[in-house]
Amino acid sequence: MAEQTDKLIHAFSALADLGAEITESRDFEEMVRSALHVVLGALGLRRGLVAEYEHDAALLRFVAVWGMGDDAPVSAPFDAGRAEMLTAGSGLLSLSEAQTRPALQQQLGAELTATLLGLRVALVAPLVVHGELVGLIALGGKATDEAFTTEDREVIRTMARHIGVGIHNHRLLREVERRADENRQLYDNLRGIYRDTVRAFAAAIDCKDKYTQGHSERVGKYAEIIARELGWSEEKIEHVAVGGYLHDVGKLVVERDIINAPYRIDAKQSAELNRHPAAGYEILAPIRHPDADIPLMAKYHHERIDGRGYPEGLKGDEIPPAAKVVALADSFDAMTTDRTYRRRKEFPEVVEDLRHNTGRQFAPDVVIAFCRALLKEFDALPRERRIMRLLGKDYIEPEPVRPLLVELIEELEARAHATVGG
Ligand SMILES: [Fe+2]
Repeated sequence: MAEQTDKLIHAFSALADLGAEITESRDFEEMVRSALHVVLGALGLRRGLVAEYEHDAALLRFVAVWGMGDDAPVSAPFDAGRAEMLTAGSGLLSLSEAQTRPALQQQLGAELTATLLGLRVALVAPLVVHGELVGLIALGGKATDEAFTTEDREVIRTMARHIGVGIHNHRLLREVERRADENRQLYDNLRGIYRDTVRAFAAAIDCKDKYTQGHSERVGKYAEIIARELGWSEEKIEHVAVGGYLHDVGKLVVERDIINAPYRIDAKQSAELNRHPAAGYEILAPIRHPDADIPLMAKYHHERIDGRGYPEGLKGDEIPPAAKVVALADSFDAMTTDRTYRRRKEFPEVVEDLRHNTGRQFAPDVVIAFCRALLKEFDALPRERRIMRLLGKDYIEPEPVRPLLVELIEELEARAHATVGG
């Protein structure tokens, strides 16, 4: 009796181990291998295998095999008809009793029966979950050559349920992962479409304004560079670039003559032109963007941190950071490209403009980031000089410009300190 109790305790602790193996291991094959070892150990068996039934491939894949020699097969054909019969059958199948062979061959098929007998399998436990075959366990006889007792069979049945559920859950997980993969691909496609649409829009905007060819694209690129220098996330960087590409989208609804006026426009025309940020917002707001700031970058790219910008006269931190970035990128491109009524500024003048207008028009941290990004380009490989390439050859001479930028950064940082201290 005591021996019997010991055996039961042993079996149940093995069952607990099995539960832990199945729930804890992340790797499917490792989980199955461990489960097989627990079963073999609990019953004192020398060999066994766990097979997963793959419906679509019509086979049993031997996921874990133990003690059956190196040339044991890795799978066996098994069709849906047999799977149904095995599911409908009455549980454990004994291969060791010759008189049951015809019935076995009916359920397992002659081929699989032969394979399993070749591997000296004594007992087969189908793994059935929710009325569906997920696989089977095939076990060799005991090391002691004793027959399986009723308790042994009960333990095997219980363990088979555990392992079956483990395989089933793993399949569900795989299915979920596959769907997540599909979703990811779908999302990537959508992102590609969105990006292309944004580019096409930028080209359309720049087309309307014939004197500022490529303006939107350059603003997108400057904005991206600044955002990266500010240490923003890759996602946010991409969104700021989109904001840059689209910032002037409102110009699509402003009179072409005003945009292309070959002279300084009058007050009335200027009022019309100044509608474009709000108009841009109207155009972009109904679209579902990956970032809610994108329409706001169009709306607020002419705001100034001293509150004297438009359309709302927002001040300082009332302006979204991404809009501050686009505002600088926009003004920088305006200063560094020829317009109908004036030529572009020489770069030292641009630096002077930044010095004068930081704290008035531009946010200091944004200007500092832009200067830093430019300084880095002086020491970078030619192909990494993105700002310099956008500005065109020979516009910036690094050596005379370097001290100007260093000085400007120092001054802006000192000002920031004074403000914080005072
Ligand atoms: Fe604008």
